Amino acid sequence: MPSAPVPPPAPWWQSAAIYQLYVRSFADGNGDGTGDLAGVRAHLPYLASLGIDAIWFNPWYPSPMADAGYDIADYRSIDPVFGTLADADALIAEAHAHEIKIIIDVVPNHGSDRHPWFRAALAAGPGSAERSRFWFRPGRGAAGELPPNNWQSIFGGSAWTRVTEADGSFGEWYLHLFDPAQPDFNWSSPEVRLEFEDVLRFWFSRGVDGIRIDSAALLCKDPDLPDLAAAAAPGPGHPYTDRDEVHLVYQSWRAIADTYPGRMLIGEVWLPDAARLARYVGPGELHTVFNFPYLNCPWDAAALRAVIDATLALSSGAPATWVLSNHDVDRVVSRYGRPDTAFDLDRRPYFHALGVDLAVGTRRARAAALLTMALPGSVYVYQGEELGLWEVQDIPDELRQDPIWSRTAGADPGRDGSRVPLPWSGTEPPFGFSPPGAAAEPWLPQPKDWRELTVAAESASPDSMLALYREALRIRRSSPALRDGPMSWQPSAGGVLAFNRIPAGAGAGGLRCVANLSAVPVTLPAGATLLLSSGPLDGGLLPPDCTAWLRL
Ligand code: GLC
Repeated sequence: MPSAPVPPPAPWWQSAAIYQLYVRSFADGNGDGTGDLAGVRAHLPYLASLGIDAIWFNPWYPSPMADAGYDIADYRSIDPVFGTLADADALIAEAHAHEIKIIIDVVPNHGSDRHPWFRAALAAGPGSAERSRFWFRPGRGAAGELPPNNWQSIFGGSAWTRVTEADGSFGEWYLHLFDPAQPDFNWSSPEVRLEFEDVLRFWFSRGVDGIRIDSAALLCKDPDLPDLAAAAAPGPGHPYTDRDEVHLVYQSWRAIADTYPGRMLIGEVWLPDAARLARYVGPGELHTVFNFPYLNCPWDAAALRAVIDATLALSSGAPATWVLSNHDVDRVVSRYGRPDTAFDLDRRPYFHALGVDLAVGTRRARAAALLTMALPGSVYVYQGEELGLWEVQDIPDELRQDPIWSRTAGADPGRDGSRVPLPWSGTEPPFGFSPPGAAAEPWLPQPKDWRELTVAAESASPDSMLALYREALRIRRSSPALRDGPMSWQPSAGGVLAFNRIPAGAGAGGLRCVANLSAVPVTLPAGATLLLSSGPLDGGLLPPDCTAWLRL
C-alpha cells in the first residue's frame, strides 16, 4: 500500500517566535550612542541562543528621525547612523545562516518631509503633478489662514501644516496624520501605488522574509477631505481610518509577496471592531495582523479569556499573533505592576500617574510570558521584554525625543520610556550598550538599577527573566504540541486559565498550561509532569500570579 502523503510543513510565520528589534536601542557598534547594524550583527549569537525564529526590525532607512525613523526619506537604503545597505545584506545573510528570518518595517501612509517627492512637491507649487502624490489643499477662511478641515494629528495638534511657497507667500496646507515631518502620501495616485510595489520587490529580492506594514488602516482618504464627525467610527464612512479601498492595496501586495516563496505580510491595524479587523486577513490579503486587544487587556482571567477567544475566532486560516509589548506602549512589567493593569495609548498620562509595584509587575510579566507562549499562533517579543525591563518614567524632560511629548507640550510623556537602550553587561551605564571608551552616551539615559537586568547578570542566574524566556522558547520550539496542537480550554477555578495543546494523532504528547490570576494558590492536575513554571510552586500548589506548563 502506498504510504499516506506527508503534509507540507506549516509556513514558518504561523507559529514563529519573532523578536522585535528596535535598532537604535539594541547595541551600538561604533560608539556614537545609537544602536546600529554592526551592533546587531555582533549580537546575532545572543538572538540565536534565545531561541527566536525571526527578527522584526523597526525602520532602518535614511530619515531625519523626526519620529525615530518612521519618517522615511529613502525606502531603498539604510540610514548612515545604522550602517549601509551592504551591512543590511550581510546581516540578512548572517541571520539566515542562524536560521533566523528577517521582517522589515515599511511605512506606506506617510514619508518624510525630506523625501525627494515632498521636496519636489514644495518646489513645483499648487496644482502640480508633484503635489498630487500628497494631500495639498488651499486653506479655509478669507485668506486661506485656516486648515482645510478639522482633522487632528495622532501626535497632537492639527493634522495640517501650511507651507511657504517658492515666492515667499503663505501657500497651501498639507496633510500629516502624524508629525508635520511626516506628510501623508495620496494613495489615489497610481504613482504612489507603483512606487511601493517596487519597494516591496526591492526588499523581497534582497532576501527579506516578511514586511510589517505601519499604520496599515490609514492609507486611503476620502478625496473630499470632509470634516471628521465627532462620532465617526472607523470603517467605510470614516474619512481616513479603515476605508474599504485600502483592501485593494493589500490585495496587490499579497500578489507580489506570493511571487516570492515563504514571504509574509503583517499589518499594524488598530481597530476596535473584530469583524473589520478580520477583513485584513481575508483571502488574498495579509497573512497576519497584530493583536492589540491582547496587549491592552488587563491582568484579569475573564478579560484575557474573552480576548483570546475573540482572537482565535477572528478569521479561519489566519494564525493569531500574541503581543505583550512594543515600542509604542508601556513595558509590560510596569503595566502589570500598576493598580490598573489595562493599557490605552490615548490615556498614557493617566497610567503614568499610577504607582508601580515592580515586584508584582515582574511576577505577572513572567506568568504572562508563559501564558502567551503557550497560545496557538505566532508570538512577538519586544527587545528587553526577555530581561524584564520596566518603563522608564523619569527620563529628564530635556532628554525626551518622542514628538508626542513636544506636540502635546508635555501633557503626554510619549514612548521614550519603552525605548531606552538595552543593558548588556557591567555595573553602570552604558552597560555594554556602547563599546568601551565610546565617545557618546546612549541616546536615552539608562536607569542605574538596570545593573541587575543586564544580559550578563541574567545569564548567570537560573531564576532570571532571561532564563525563563530561553527555556520557554526552547520548549516551544521543540514541542509539536506548542507549534501546531489545537487549543482546548479545561475546567478551572475562578481566576484561573487552563488549556491543553494536543497535537493531532500524538497520543499523550500534549501540554497543559495553567495560569493562576486569582488571589489564592491552586492545585495542579494529578499525574502531570511539571515542565516549567514562572515561579516556585508552593507545596505542590500553583501560587497567585504564576503560570505552569505541564506534560500530560
Ligand atoms: C506606528 C508606529 C509608531 C509610529 C507611527 C507613525 O504606529 O508603530 O511608532 O510613530 O506608526 O509612523
